[in-house]
Amino acid sequence: DADNVIVYHRGISWDLSNLPPSPRPPFQRWIWLHLESPTNTKRIPGLENLFNLTLSYRRDADIPVRMRLMTRKKPNEDFVIPKKDKLVCWIVSNNDPSTGVDTRNVFYREFRKYIQVTLFGRAYARFLDYTDYYPTLASCKFYLAFENSIHKDYITEKINGPLAAGTVPVVLGPPRRNYENFVPAESFIHVNDFPDVKSLAEYLLQLDKNEDAYRKYFNWRKHLTPSPHLILQTQEFILAICTACDHVARHKEYKEAHDLYDWYFN
Ligand SMILES: *[C@@H]1O[C@H](CO)[C@@H](O)[C@H](O)[C@H]1NC(C)=O
Repeated sequence: DADNVIVYHRGISWDLSNLPPSPRPPFQRWIWLHLESPTNTKRIPGLENLFNLTLSYRRDADIPVRMRLMTRKKPNEDFVIPKKDKLVCWIVSNNDPSTGVDTRNVFYREFRKYIQVTLFGRAYARFLDYTDYYPTLASCKFYLAFENSIHKDYITEKINGPLAAGTVPVVLGPPRRNYENFVPAESFIHVNDFPDVKSLAEYLLQLDKNEDAYRKYFNWRKHLTPSPHLILQTQEFILAICTACDHVARHKEYKEAHDLYDWYFN
């Protein structure tokens, strides 16, 4: 009966046996939902020409799913930088080498020689309760928003968390210009802004001693409002599902998504 069916890529079985049964109603559109990067995507055979719409973090998806900063009409003069008692923090829950995390681990091993990093998360046996997520981020001057793998538009909630909490994200991911498609240039520090890891660490130590220079990283908050993202595991797909509902309510047209993997991997 459904006009649209969302199919979650990671839930599809390899032989496609758990897809809705045939015949498929002619009016029904299937929406491919996938939020992982290409590095962490299995090429299940037979899906290339099966869907009508793509639902993904990519800007060129039929339905892009992203956390957005909202513009304000009246400048907000009231923002106060939260109290800080830690310099650099990092929450790491996934450290599985098969997911592409090597780049960030190599970077981190060098980085920690020059600067103190406070670690949290499953990978370091320091679990952070979800109620502590935003307060903990807020108490750090900088947060390492390091993506597990590097792909165009693959900029996740890892940057939204610190922006929403009032912390400066230090990002590792696609090039700076790609970040600037989504967040202001002066709201974050990109690891590629520096010739090497040591210079980045030295810059952060310098900012730690210079309150005025640090404060500049929050000027954008006058004109833009970040929204905290949902963090419970059970809420993981709410944004995607709501974005899809909103889209299909306004777009009823016929469509076929061809060459799914060609689009996604190339
Ligand atoms: C949806 O896509 C399939 C596969 O490409 C196609 O056969 C079907 O006609 C499309 N249906 C709609 C309603 O867009």
